[in-house]
Amino acid sequence: MTEKVNLTWNGKAIQAEKGSNLLKAALDNGIEVAHYCYHAGLSVAGVCRMCMVEQDGVPRPFPSCNATCGEGMVVRNDTPKIKSAVETTLQFHLLNHPLDCPVCDQAGECGLQDYYMKHGVYDSQMIDKKVHKEKVQDIGKNVMLDAERCILCSRCTRFTEEVTKTNELGILNRGDHAEITVNEQLKNDYAQNLVDICPVGALTSKDFRFKQRVWFLEEVQTTCIGCETGCAVKVSENKNGAFRVKPIYDHDVNGHWMCDDGRNIYKHVSSPTRLASATENINGLFVPADELAIQATLKGKKAKYILSTGLTVGEYANFFKAIKGSKAEVALYTLPNLGVEFDGLLKRGDKNPNLRGAKAAFEAAGFDHTQAALDKMLGSIASSDAVFVVVPEILYNEDHFNTLIKKVEKAGTRIALTPGETLGTLRSFNYLLPVPSFLEKNGEILNYQGAARTLRAGLSYGETSKDVSYYGKWVNV
Ligand code: SF4
Ligand code: SF4
Ligand code: FES
Repeated sequence: MTEKVNLTWNGKAIQAEKGSNLLKAALDNGIEVAHYCYHAGLSVAGVCRMCMVEQDGVPRPFPSCNATCGEGMVVRNDTPKIKSAVETTLQFHLLNHPLDCPVCDQAGECGLQDYYMKHGVYDSQMIDKKVHKEKVQDIGKNVMLDAERCILCSRCTRFTEEVTKTNELGILNRGDHAEITVNEQLKNDYAQNLVDICPVGALTSKDFRFKQRVWFLEEVQTTCIGCETGCAVKVSENKNGAFRVKPIYDHDVNGHWMCDDGRNIYKHVSSPTRLASATENINGLFVPADELAIQATLKGKKAKYILSTGLTVGEYANFFKAIKGSKAEVALYTLPNLGVEFDGLLKRGDKNPNLRGAKAAFEAAGFDHTQAALDKMLGSIASSDAVFVVVPEILYNEDHFNTLIKKVEKAGTRIALTPGETLGTLRSFNYLLPVPSFLEKNGEILNYQGAARTLRAGLSYGETSKDVSYYGKWVNV
């Protein structure tokens, strides 16, 4: 167990881990301290000079991010001296800043805006012409740089140096001509974390900018289904759909970060081409169909189910409960590994979000989840069969899935249950049925560690789609 030390901050007794920095101790204890350059996932730079504190017995204020907690320390950041120091530093940061908040995508979640509002420092004190820098630079990987807005906190350069070790960014020149320099276009798979850690609107997401004002969005805390890691994420959305994904700190799984692939997992959910209701294929044209009528046409056929690895633990349990005692055959389709097994940071080649949950559910129900069992089922498909295929929500390798679909074509009736967009490859199916996406259901999936990760239904979707017994209703037709 980590040793704790006792200290007093603004007259309040707090505890902190021995050896941790003073700013972290304050933030962990809910004490507000202005800061730009400090980030818990990066080394300490101590360059923004916003986190100043006074300590009993120490003659001059100092930055709290660069000081270590000690037993019995008495610290304050609510004194007139500190308030004046923070305001002076803030004015320094505002000197050349364009203050273009009305057109800045960071407005509403900008550290500079927050503090100048709080301290009543609404404008730059600059009487000379401000130094102008390049405003709209595409620096790769969906990240845009506005050098004029940069306050040179160095979070981004430390990220590319310490986390991805790719060093695409640096700082060039001195004084008010210092600026972020792009040594080469961003090439790392975690680049969009730069947008999250930039405390101002200097780094913004090409994907998200100008789409929504953040005060019109609500956040749903859930889990990324992009690979077996299962990073903790929050999806920003409103009644018009989902707009972005950001990581949530999770000590045991993803720390502060997520990969760029995971930023795209929401896009199909509110896509206009996503299947909204049951459809039937009539001479190549998919027309709205009644689910009860579809069920009636399936009577007497032998049901074969090919499940994906994207169901929740609860959905698998419900499904197997529903088929208990029936003659239905069930097999599991797993997505092939993509790229390296593990990239050393977060990304895994295994793109099956709940592979462990699926295998456990198959075993508990006495079904074989192996590729051999799937091959056996595919080899025995006959025209009297009704084959249900649950389409994986994120298909990184459509060709691999198409090979499966080709083998299913021998079945007399083919029904696809899809949480994603309507794929061209499903044109040969008789019926397409929508099933809830990861943002429309509550439940758990098991990640590569076997740890339960929570999926939460978003705010803008109907209650009915959160019903985990959805898959069961197609059983025993
Ligand atoms: S671009 Fe953003 S993160 Fe990078 S130094 Fe400037 S303000 Fe800091
Ligand atoms: S590492 Fe995997 S789970 Fe994490 S954000 Fe990337 S795709 Fe999603
Ligand atoms: S947060 Fe301490 S100096 Fe920047």
